[in-house]
Amino acid sequence: MILPAPGIIWASLPIPAVLVTPDNLIDEINPAAELFLNTSARSLRGLPVLDVLAVDAPLDEGFTRVRANQAALFINDVDVTSGEKPPVQCTIQVAPLQDEPDTLLLLISPRELADRLGRGTGVKAAAKSAIGMAEMLAHEIKNPLAGISGAAQLLSMGLSAEDRELTDLIVEETRRVVKLLEQVEQFGNTRPPEKQPVNLHDLLDRARRSALVSFGSHMTFVEDYDPSLPPAWADPDQLQQVFLNLVKNASEAAGPDGGTIRLRSFYDHGLRLRRADGSGPALPLNVEIIDDGPGIPPEIAGEVFEPFVSGRTNGTGLGLALVSKIISDHDGWIALDSVPGRTVFRISLPMVPKERRKG
Ligand SMILES: Nc1ncnc2c1ncn2[C@@H]1O[C@H](COP(=O)(O)OP(=O)(O)OP(=O)(O)O)[C@@H](O)[C@H]1O
Ligand SMILES: [Mg+2]
Repeated sequence: MILPAPGIIWASLPIPAVLVTPDNLIDEINPAAELFLNTSARSLRGLPVLDVLAVDAPLDEGFTRVRANQAALFINDVDVTSGEKPPVQCTIQVAPLQDEPDTLLLLISPRELADRLGRGTGVKAAAKSAIGMAEMLAHEIKNPLAGISGAAQLLSMGLSAEDRELTDLIVEETRRVVKLLEQVEQFGNTRPPEKQPVNLHDLLDRARRSALVSFGSHMTFVEDYDPSLPPAWADPDQLQQVFLNLVKNASEAAGPDGGTIRLRSFYDHGLRLRRADGSGPALPLNVEIIDDGPGIPPEIAGEVFEPFVSGRTNGTGLGLALVSKIISDHDGWIALDSVPGRTVFRISLPMVPKERRKG
């Protein structure tokens, strides 16, 4: 692999990074730092870094030490503020630049979660569910990973092409782990659905089209829609995610020779979500995603909606857990019926409430 241009690494680095001149002025900040500091690189260039970042640690002393020892320095759990923003707990890493040792690279890793937990109520709430725990863990693991990846990138600058393959491997694999952790974090972060009237066929169509140009290019799609189906009361982005996940699973289950995915919609006025008190919305809008692949592996069939249950070597097992969470946030219902040659995921959703219907 050829290492991308430094500018690309700089721009893609998901951690706020600041380049500091020998006299402690800001030379450059990356897009993640622009986001974190809520300002543009242009407006900060040339300003004393110690004026911009208010840190409750002797940062200037740290800078001096890094320049003297030519070794990176980690400062744990400091509060960083800039402008009017409330302080955020961060880990700061200061590293000398390879060829210009008086120029320093500052990596700022925010620790919002630690901060949140520090305020008390978070711990119990998060511990309530395994997902909460996993989310916490994911967040905590991301911080050291950022350090590992950043250190590997610094190391790579002085290496031969052969050795650089190894640092590239570190960076690449770290990126993969971070991506996985981000998926885990997604659970904790899903916002409540912003419901509006949604045309289900439009969403299915979009899922089909994006599948065909990527993971589902080996599949054949058959549409079997009830054209008179009324709109659903749903969050279009979240529902899109649901359909994409289901179509993706069906595409991944099919062999390299592909298979057929049938997208079906129909109206069924009988179905109703049962609550303990007997109430519950009617769920007359039905969508089925049907494939002719091998079916759900029997040993996991009972728990595919649980997080981290996967039958694939590279699967994280989060797709269907997310689907199930989104559908239940919509007061909907999901059913699964699978035998070799025919797997059906059926989603049942409510109509737009009477008072929200136009006309
Ligand atoms: N249409 C399908 N046909 C056969 N097996 C399926 C189908 N859909 C899901 N599965 C099985 O259920 C498992 C769980 O699916 P899920 O989407 O939750 O996780 P994943 O696809 O393994 O990983 P991720 O979606 O997080 O990348 C899959 O690994 C697969 O074994
Ligand atoms: Mg999946």
